[in-house]
Amino acid sequence: MNESTPIPESLVEALRGAQTVTMLTGSGVSAESGVPTFRDAQTGLWARYDPADLATPEAYSRDPRLVWEWYEWRRGLVAQAGPNPGHLALAQLERHVSRFTLITQNVDGLHRRAGSGNLIELHGNIMRTKCSAEGVAVEDYEPEGAPPVCPNCGAPLRPDVVWFGEALPADALHAASEAARSCDLFFSVGTSGLVQPAALLPFEAQRSGATVVVEVNPDKTPLSRHADYVLRGRAGKVLPALLEATYGS
Ligand code: OAD
Repeated sequence: MNESTPIPESLVEALRGAQTVTMLTGSGVSAESGVPTFRDAQTGLWARYDPADLATPEAYSRDPRLVWEWYEWRRGLVAQAGPNPGHLALAQLERHVSRFTLITQNVDGLHRRAGSGNLIELHGNIMRTKCSAEGVAVEDYEPEGAPPVCPNCGAPLRPDVVWFGEALPADALHAASEAARSCDLFFSVGTSGLVQPAALLPFEAQRSGATVVVEVNPDKTPLSRHADYVLRGRAGKVLPALLEATYGS
């Protein structure tokens, strides 16, 4: 295992030779865009709330206004933010690899804005809204109310994200699992690896055979001791360095 940020030559060669690369990202990738990581998001006005109390169907049934307003605050942060060098490096990497899949737990849409194409948003997207009764995405609605109501059925609207205790979209999870099991190289970037089922993906990749697992994170996680390479550092620094070392751009 190599724990230094300079990119090991053996990893550069593995990436150059890889046909299929799968990457999993978490909120650490967006930290350098000014979007707090999920477990750091409780700042200011929201400091007294636990995310587990806000990002659940129970919280929404109990106090829909509170949950809607918390998401409005988070949407405001995301709207002001832009992709950082880490997001941009991932979009560039995709252009160099034959089969590249980016799986993200982030709901901020910054990977798409950075230009990533083959993207699986496992936990949904905070900028989309859906009907809490019908489950379908709703684009045009009167913004009055917290939450506003569905123009079709009058039920309250909610963000189109996966809350604690909810199932992930089956198609997205299936595609993510497939991408993990079929890759030569798997990267886990900026995620604490504490939330299932996403946290299992690097292990699925590892079990599938000759896959090399790489972690990019300034801090230790439960994956660290199982990874073949650990690149300690910020995604916004390590990923551009990886791109430069491998492809020279
Ligand atoms: P966490 O907040 O649990 O973890 C963020 C990780 O990013 C930590 O391991 C940090 O060390 C790391 N980190 C911080 N800054 C970084 C940087 N600049 N570069 C790289 N890494 C950095 O967030 P997630 O792992 O994304 O799910 O959390 C996973 C899921 O938990 C979220 O999608 C959310 C939450 O429950 C749902 O809402 C369903």
